[in-house]
Amino acid sequence: MIKVGLLGCGTVGSGVVELLKNNAEIISRRTGDIIELKKVLDKDLDKCRALGIDEAKITGDFEDILQDDEIDIVVELIGGIEPALTMITRAMQQGKHIVTANKDLIAEKGKELFDMAKANQVDFYFEASVAGGIPIIYPLKQSLAGNQIKEVIGILNGTTNYILSKMSEEGRPFEEILAEAQELGYAEADPTSDVEGLDAGRKIAILSSIAFNSRVTFDDVYIEGISKITPSDIEYARDLGYVIKLLAVAKQGDDGSIQARVHPAFLPKKHPLAAVNGVYNAVFITGDAVGEIMHYGRGAGKLPTASSVVGDIIDIGRNIVHHISGRISCTCYEDKKILDVSQLRAQFYIRMTVKDRPGVLAGIAGVFGSNNVSLATVFQTTHGGGMAELILITHEVEEQDLNDSLAVLRGMHIVGNIDNVIRLEGTNRDL
Ligand code: HSE
Repeated sequence: MIKVGLLGCGTVGSGVVELLKNNAEIISRRTGDIIELKKVLDKDLDKCRALGIDEAKITGDFEDILQDDEIDIVVELIGGIEPALTMITRAMQQGKHIVTANKDLIAEKGKELFDMAKANQVDFYFEASVAGGIPIIYPLKQSLAGNQIKEVIGILNGTTNYILSKMSEEGRPFEEILAEAQELGYAEADPTSDVEGLDAGRKIAILSSIAFNSRVTFDDVYIEGISKITPSDIEYARDLGYVIKLLAVAKQGDDGSIQARVHPAFLPKKHPLAAVNGVYNAVFITGDAVGEIMHYGRGAGKLPTASSVVGDIIDIGRNIVHHISGRISCTCYEDKKILDVSQLRAQFYIRMTVKDRPGVLAGIAGVFGSNNVSLATVFQTTHGGGMAELILITHEVEEQDLNDSLAVLRGMHIVGNIDNVIRLEGTNRDL
């Protein structure tokens, strides 16, 4: 019998308990041995009791799990850096295999944890840390291992995708939809990590490290959130044939350099990711052999996330049955250059308020031209009060050149304001 110690009786923990119970027979058959939940831990014992777990299995003391030699696998669902890091470290030192859903920990301490797993000859699996129920880490490490991965583009945050989808459907502003989402419990009381792109940043750090075999940490990822997106940006995008999505993008150039970024983007309506709406997540991967593939599903929630956790438990269970460990370990065996966002090339959408009088457009076009920024589309709407709104789409330009142009424009008296600047993504793809 394979015995599991569970840390955390919260939402995902309760899903794991439910799944191990409801699907016990197929889980055992697929593993090749019975999987038993031996102990569960939470600060709040009542949370575990509410899951119908035998009193004898419930504990508030980590030592009860650590010192139980029968427990083979520790499942960490507490989240955050501490005490999760200490608990995982000590469990590995006791020879216990680890399953975790903790993206903060992997994105920040991935290398240390992998080194520790190797030193202690234990397995360390974390499928649920990115995109909840969507299988993506195992496919990248295993099923797609024969490919050179060119790019990974994800909608990795359900909260922001819900807000942007709703803004797009209803034409209402960000603040209003966010407040409503908070009331409905779809967005956290402190939504910063989601709406400012930090959550997606951690997830793309993990995926790019795996896809490109080189460590990318959270600090390496360029991050912008969605709080500056307005209904008019969404409407202009629609008129021009795009949707606005918060994308997490990781690409590898022909020279092996890596870019990793999270920001709102204009995405062509025909791109497969453009159809991903509401709380759903998706990951779009391009490999040299497989071509384009997309994984779509629920990126959060009790049973979808538990599905990934239990999949990892089963996989480790199979390794135990076959007396092996370390089969799928750290894949970061290279040290590739990570590009700064200013070095990247992209097309940009720019919305600006300018004075509505002769020569203004020519003056603005001149600034872009003298900074190497070529314009693809320009249109203007009259604002009233002698002002006009100017919408520009550039050709592909170096980000530094665009920033230089914008710095000059901000200082010009004919420019009222640069209202928004948004990158385009997925425009080079054959649709
Ligand atoms: N807060 C995340 C989201 C789910 O909104 O998708 C957990 O990573």
